[in-house]
Amino acid sequence: MTLLSPSRCVSRRLCRILLANAAHYSNAEPASSESATPKSSRPEIFKLDGKEIRTDSCWNLSNSVLTLLERQLLNEPSNPLNLLKQRIVNHVHQTYRKPGGRSPLFTVCEREPRVVTTFENFDSLLTPADHISRRPSDTYYVNQDYCLRAHTTAHEHRLIREGLDAFLTVGDVYRRDEIDKTHYPCFHQLEGVRLYAADQLFGTAGINQHPILEKTPTERKPHKQEKIAEDASNALQIQLKAFLEDLCDAIFGVCEKRWVDAYFPFTHPSFELEIEYQGKWLEVLGCGVLEQKLMEMAGVPDKVGWAFGLGLERLAMVLYTIPDIRLFWTKDSGFLSQFEGKSPTDSIVYKPISAHPQVTFDVSFFLPESVQFNDMTSDVYDTIRNVGGELVEQVKLMDEFTNKKSGKRSQMYRIVYRSNEKSLTKQEVNAVHKAIEQELVEKFSAVIR
Ligand code: DAH
Repeated sequence: MTLLSPSRCVSRRLCRILLANAAHYSNAEPASSESATPKSSRPEIFKLDGKEIRTDSCWNLSNSVLTLLERQLLNEPSNPLNLLKQRIVNHVHQTYRKPGGRSPLFTVCEREPRVVTTFENFDSLLTPADHISRRPSDTYYVNQDYCLRAHTTAHEHRLIREGLDAFLTVGDVYRRDEIDKTHYPCFHQLEGVRLYAADQLFGTAGINQHPILEKTPTERKPHKQEKIAEDASNALQIQLKAFLEDLCDAIFGVCEKRWVDAYFPFTHPSFELEIEYQGKWLEVLGCGVLEQKLMEMAGVPDKVGWAFGLGLERLAMVLYTIPDIRLFWTKDSGFLSQFEGKSPTDSIVYKPISAHPQVTFDVSFFLPESVQFNDMTSDVYDTIRNVGGELVEQVKLMDEFTNKKSGKRSQMYRIVYRSNEKSLTKQEVNAVHKAIEQELVEKFSAVIR
């Protein structure tokens, strides 16, 4: 696997397999191809996340990517990516505690600036100078020294240097790519890093028999680096794999998994984890033992560690059966309403929405005198669904009030109509809507307002 090449990405490969099987392609925001999108006119100073950077002729951000930067899907409470992120964070916080158990072991970093130096994005991670991921056709450059982060790994060097020993980094990452069901210039990653001093890996009693670093470097082997002792390398791999298998079980329930050898410039040995999904093996994350050179550059030569990076979209697509990566960006309430008010532990099976437009109608009525608000609501929902059938996509109680003088109780429901087969006309919908009103009047003595 080539790191950061357009086809390399863990999540994208998974998405491709997944989408090849997707039963139904449902409506997504119409998206133009990125290559057809012209570069935006270059500002003199580019401001993002508290940084102000003078641009130069390397600037290649398009207008569409500038728009994507604004949205911040992980800040939207009901976005499936946010639900999944919370599920992972909750699991890690509950499972891994500081000694004494009173506080979580992993620090969560989710507000890191999305514009980073090329040192952070590439050099600090030992990415070779001629690596394809550095090409301006792959990365969004603000100037020759700054770019949009292409992976959350870009923060590893600094966070380690600042003293963190166990952390998760979550955020949106940007790569120049075409736009289709499996590719989007912005997607989301969750990164994890854990460092160990000798006693944390082997206990104080064990460190004399098991030093974590070689006295004299050996040659590099498939299962170990030059400077990391064999026992330490093995112990790190066991801990890393146990952490990730446990995380997968927590997300997907117990599932079939397999480890595949991989290559990343910043880890050795490196692996990818695949899980079985609908009879196929899907790659869900990359990980490995951190290169000791990276640890030395970050000022922690006497510790060893592991890291992993997973793509939230690909996991969310599997978990919630979302067939198209563009759907995460839609503002269509047919999509959003399926995740609204849900908790991270709810199991949600996404129901594909129609590609035809919605038609929205409200119904307001007075309740019969003795009937309370709560008594009426489920009857109204049932009636709307029975009469409207397949054409009713969403129903929501929007408002209820009691008139102070007359004491009459009133409710207002919003009904979103949409057909799977065709675009509905207002007249067609009106006929169904009137039939619903009629049924409410006849069966429940509602007085339409
Ligand atoms: N940064 C890698 C990517 O975007 C994913 C990754 C692999 C992150 C291995 C890691 C790691 O921290 O150890 O494809």
